[in-house]
Amino acid sequence: MIVKRRSELEVMAEAAVINREALEVVERAVTPGVTTRELNALAEDAILSRGGKPAFKGYNGFPATICASPNEVVVHGFPDDRPLAEGDIISIDIGTFYRGYAADMARTYPVGNVSVDAERLLDVTQRSLTAGIERAQAGGRLGDVSAAIQDVVEAAGYWVVREFVGHGIGRDFHEGPEVPNFGRAGTGPVLRPGLVLAIEPMVAQRRARVVIADDGWTASTENGCLAAHFEHTVAITEDGPWVLTASGSGTNVMPTARGGVHGA
Ligand code: MF3
Ligand code: CO
Repeated sequence: MIVKRRSELEVMAEAAVINREALEVVERAVTPGVTTRELNALAEDAILSRGGKPAFKGYNGFPATICASPNEVVVHGFPDDRPLAEGDIISIDIGTFYRGYAADMARTYPVGNVSVDAERLLDVTQRSLTAGIERAQAGGRLGDVSAAIQDVVEAAGYWVVREFVGHGIGRDFHEGPEVPNFGRAGTGPVLRPGLVLAIEPMVAQRRARVVIADDGWTASTENGCLAAHFEHTVAITEDGPWVLTASGSGTNVMPTARGGVHGA
């Protein structure tokens, strides 16, 4: 695992701001009738106009700037021409390179009014990410993060997707260590200041295997249940987790006092 200097974290924070702003552009356009291809174009324009480079496009042959994963699609969906419909949920995952460093972020949005069950899935998945981030403390263990996520998900009666995990991030989009969304507190590598993690719980409504479509990417629950995905890029610091992709996380802002979570 690669530990970054403060100056590198500051560049990563700039990459993260571009990435978050691009996702916010997409978010404002999520509405019944819009296509994910249109959302992809908005995201690409937003990244490029801010001086960034889409990180996903061309990565292992991925064809687009965003992953757009509706309903039972867990991750890595391709943007396409099917309009979003009222009641859908849509996971948008986005990555940006800026001055040689990457940022990675995802959120699942409701399209118009959605079922109470869908709302709850989004809420629980987001809360599991926050719980994981709170455990991303220097001197702690990676398993603390994983276990905190799993606890929130399973306490709500949902299923942690096992087939995909979070990751270290920096000059490479995927660096070590892997960050599973399940595990045991007090186990795994020690979290050192300067380590940057993409923490990204993927949660299904019930126990489900994940199957990959013929396109080699689109990953869906085999039983068709809904899945959600929330992700932040988080730096471990002496002063607590620095959520680079959160709003208000600008480079001029210092992390909060030890143990706090800045910008979650
Ligand atoms: N956040 C996802 C990941 O870390 C998105 C990757 S999309 C890809 O795996 F195209 F870049 F693979
Ligand atoms: Co990621």
